[in-house]
Amino acid sequence: MKLVIAIIQPHKLDAVMHALDEKEIYLKTVSTVLGCGRQKGISEVYRGVREVGNLIKKVRLEIAVNDNFLDQTVAAIRNAAQSGKIGDGKIFVLDLADCVRIRTGERGNEAIG
Ligand SMILES: Nc1ncnc2c1ncn2[C@@H]1O[C@H](COP(=O)(O)OP(=O)(O)OP(=O)(O)O)[C@@H](O)[C@H]1O
Ligand SMILES: [Mg+2]
Repeated sequence: MKLVIAIIQPHKLDAVMHALDEKEIYLKTVSTVLGCGRQKGISEVYRGVREVGNLIKKVRLEIAVNDNFLDQTVAAIRNAAQSGKIGDGKIFVLDLADCVRIRTGERGNEAIG
């Protein structure tokens, strides 16, 4: 199991959600975050909403998947979120040790999707 964490431009969220739906990837957590990339927020200001310091509003997606869904999940996010401009975001892939569906007590692969 893997945990995919993607930081994307807020205006790309609709496109990314649509791309994930098309791949039947429905389970996700979405939050608004503040971030800073390698330009330290400075040259990206004209594209984004600048907050305290050099932080810029981004959207964070968390999607836990079985291994056979990893590649299509990453590809769907990348294809939909890419504009080719600075600040498009990043996708992190982490090994996921376990998952528990609280209602039933199922674990691991059974619980994840
Ligand atoms: N190494 C990192 N660790 C944690 N968060 C990061 C890291 N790199 C990027 N982020 C997060 O992703 C957001 C978007 O990053 P961004 O796309 O600007 O990356 P970048 O490395 O500066 O690439 P680019 O040159 O394409 O802008 C940042 O605002 C931050 O929230
Ligand atoms: Mg950047």
